[in-house]
Amino acid sequence: MYDIVILTGAGVSAESGLGTFRDKDGLWTKYDLSEVATPEGFAADPAKVHGFYNARRANALDAGPNAAHHALARLQAARPGEVLIVTQNVDDLHERAGSTRDIIHMHGALTGALCASCGHRWPAPREMHPTDPCPACTRPHTRPDIVWFGEMPYRMDEIYAALSACGLFVAIGTSGQVYPAAGFVQEARAAGIETLEINLEPSDGASLFHRAVHGPATQTVPDWVGTLL
Ligand code: OAD
Repeated sequence: MYDIVILTGAGVSAESGLGTFRDKDGLWTKYDLSEVATPEGFAADPAKVHGFYNARRANALDAGPNAAHHALARLQAARPGEVLIVTQNVDDLHERAGSTRDIIHMHGALTGALCASCGHRWPAPREMHPTDPCPACTRPHTRPDIVWFGEMPYRMDEIYAALSACGLFVAIGTSGQVYPAAGFVQEARAAGIETLEINLEPSDGASLFHRAVHGPATQTVPDWVGTLL
């Protein structure tokens, strides 16, 4: 089991140039969440939803990991098998910093494609389109392998098992507004686990954590990792 479980959100990738969702100028101030991040939105206008995620994928490909991603990868490398990263982010910047194992993308990944008909998964091309056939069943019901609102995040059993058995839970760069991730701090506290928030500013759930460090992730995360190594 893991000693440390780290939940990351859009704030960890913000200084890589990827937009957050709920900050001023965040993605949900420019796009209607119900149109681009729900199964109903995809059913109504698959081209619009593919266009939204094609743009996210292009942004992620053009971006690179920052000092916060690198620091978390250093921590994992220094303590092999002891540190689990659970990310809400659909970019692959943790992986590109070196976190290639002990990482769970609970909201899916831009690098993945999923057939809505047969459930087959394969690596997403740079651009996806509604008419793309599934490589397994050939039906044109392909979607990004992203968990939308109203869908169950991935690998929740593994996440809760890790949470209940760890010694420290850390939330980094997340507003604490989207469940079930927003509830992890209460799960951890109920199990008597120490909790730490690292965020630009106090999140909605800041008072639920034992300790908090506020400031940009590229400074606060390397500083925190430095105290552990
Ligand atoms: P949000 O946009 O809700 O929150 C981002 C958080 O990061 C805020 O609390 C910011 O204060 C903080 N932040 C911004 N810049 C930062 C920086 N440089 N350093 C540290 N913190 C910074 O994003 P999430 O909490 O990740 O889900 O959003 C959760 C989910 O809502 C996403 O996974 C996505 C979204 O809708 C789906 O699309 C299913």
